[in-house]
Amino acid sequence: MGLSWRRGGTRLVIRHYEPSDEPDWLVCHALIDRRRQLDVKPTYAGRSAELVAASEEGEIVGFLDVEIESEPGALCWRADGCSGFVHELGVLREYRQHGLARRMVAAGVQWLRGQGVRRLELWATDDGMRAFAEQIGCRRIAEYRQFDLRHYGAKVERLLRQSGSRPALYFVDMTRLQTERSRFTLPGDLVCTGFELSW
Ligand SMILES: CC(C)(COP(=O)(O)OP(=O)(O)OC[C@H]1O[C@@H](n2cnc3c(N)ncnc32)[C@H](O)[C@@H]1OP(=O)(O)O)[C@@H](O)C(=O)NCCC(=O)NCCS
Repeated sequence: MGLSWRRGGTRLVIRHYEPSDEPDWLVCHALIDRRRQLDVKPTYAGRSAELVAASEEGEIVGFLDVEIESEPGALCWRADGCSGFVHELGVLREYRQHGLARRMVAAGVQWLRGQGVRRLELWATDDGMRAFAEQIGCRRIAEYRQFDLRHYGAKVERLLRQSGSRPALYFVDMTRLQTERSRFTLPGDLVCTGFELSW
């Protein structure tokens, strides 16, 4: 891949992840995603592109993991041919707003094209990622409210089912839940917005 450019005095390169990157990758991930601490770098059963943005000194400053689903709908919301699914995307705070994530997604798209894939799905749980996705031309396709039913107990689960929502593990259809929202207080829940990019 070897796409490289300079940011200030630092030369950055986007390249494929290598096993020796794991310690740096985990540090980078921990600094970006404080909700989900990982002990090992995720691996994927399907065809995947695992990209990193690294400085000349080898510091990992960003990452993108994309997997091609094994059958339509296996990973993606839209079961519209086998698509690419973004599992991990992040850039260290001090390297943001310099086009790094845009370049990594472009490299991911180039790889997907080479694999005969025409679509990518990306899910965002914070406003920064939502703004980024829209800025790079993604289209909103769905929205979920995500929370852990174990925090709420059987009573809430029963109410949700009665309301017509279908809790599938810990995910609840937001569209239906909104109409029932006055009946629930759900602290700490997370809005997940689905985006697609097609070419
Ligand atoms: C979202 C994120 C990946 C963007 O990375 P980035 O390298 O700063 O993005 P880019 O510089 O390539 O931005 C591309 C475009 O999106 C816009 N954009 C990026 N982040 C934005 C934000 N927070 N608000 C508004 N616009 C934003 C940029 O301004 C740019 O627009 P332009 O090309 O018109 O100037 C980064 O902010 C991040 O890592 N956030 C945390 C993600 C996370 O928690 N990941 C772990 C779990 S998946």
